Amino acid sequence: MDGDTLHERAGAVRDAVFGRAVFVRAVVELSNHCQRNCSYCGMRRDNRGLERFRLETAPLAESLLANIPESVTDINLQSGEDPQVVEEVALPLIGILRRETRLGISVSFGLLRDDLSRALRDAGAGYYVMKFETADAEQYRWLHAPAALERRLEAIRNLAAAGWRVSSGFIVGLPGAPPNATALALRLLEQLPLAGASVRPFIPGPETPLADAAPAPVEQALHCVALMRLASPRWFIPAVSAMAIGRKDAYTRALRNGANLATINLTPPHLRGSYPIYRRDRIIMTERLVLDHIAAAGCVPSPVGMLAWRPALPAAPINE
Ligand code: 5AD
Repeated sequence: MDGDTLHERAGAVRDAVFGRAVFVRAVVELSNHCQRNCSYCGMRRDNRGLERFRLETAPLAESLLANIPESVTDINLQSGEDPQVVEEVALPLIGILRRETRLGISVSFGLLRDDLSRALRDAGAGYYVMKFETADAEQYRWLHAPAALERRLEAIRNLAAAGWRVSSGFIVGLPGAPPNATALALRLLEQLPLAGASVRPFIPGPETPLADAAPAPVEQALHCVALMRLASPRWFIPAVSAMAIGRKDAYTRALRNGANLATINLTPPHLRGSYPIYRRDRIIMTERLVLDHIAAAGCVPSPVGMLAWRPALPAAPINE
């Protein structure tokens, strides 16, 4: 099968399970403090040039309640690995969001103590994003990715066993990748107990030890989106803003290739530059941009949230 056919087929598989509906979630980056030192990430501990911030619960809650765009059904709270922000900001914020809104709540806080992840679940979060970045244990170590690959995978399995819906993912084109890295990552995704999966192209961050490495062609990431959709028709698979960096149409193409999740960034504008996952001048997805890409892909925003969504049942059996 050639690439275009495979991509079209992936889009059709998404349509068969989810229709043309794309979930629209918001992301808020709560803190850029990070205990980790991943070579690929601009928030790494050793990046001393980065001014660190932690948002405060009350003003953030107030601003979110006033400004959540209408199309948004879910919210993803994210930060560097920073247990303090989980305890002091995320937990009370989730309480407020549960009381005041109907948003589904996702979190992405890295490896946490069991009591903290349990508290998040009790507070009402339901979806945990925990990427493994690379499925090659040696490359994982070489990149100084968090803990060890086995530990990370164990955490993913534990979260799923504790009732979380879990999403994982990897970065395609990371330096030091063995030739079969992509196949390994795709296979690992299939072996994990996941509700969602994601892929990002590697983008060298100027404030990291990998600043001079080559970026990944966005085509590779788009192809992985299609392979992931074909591997697992029911996964939540995001189109990610890193895809919109090189080629303007790549974000739309991710949605055509079977992605079904788009994210609007609601981090306070003056702090967005201080969350340099890859580059300070990353693309910030607004509601307008996201809705334009969804329309360009021939899709519509889902009226139902990710955490409320249920697959359609086949026609009911007839009782005589
Ligand atoms: N390129 C692409 N994605 C990156 N991430 C971190 N650094 C990079 C990079 N240079 C992703 C990782 C991490 C998330 C916060 O951002 O997947 O889990």
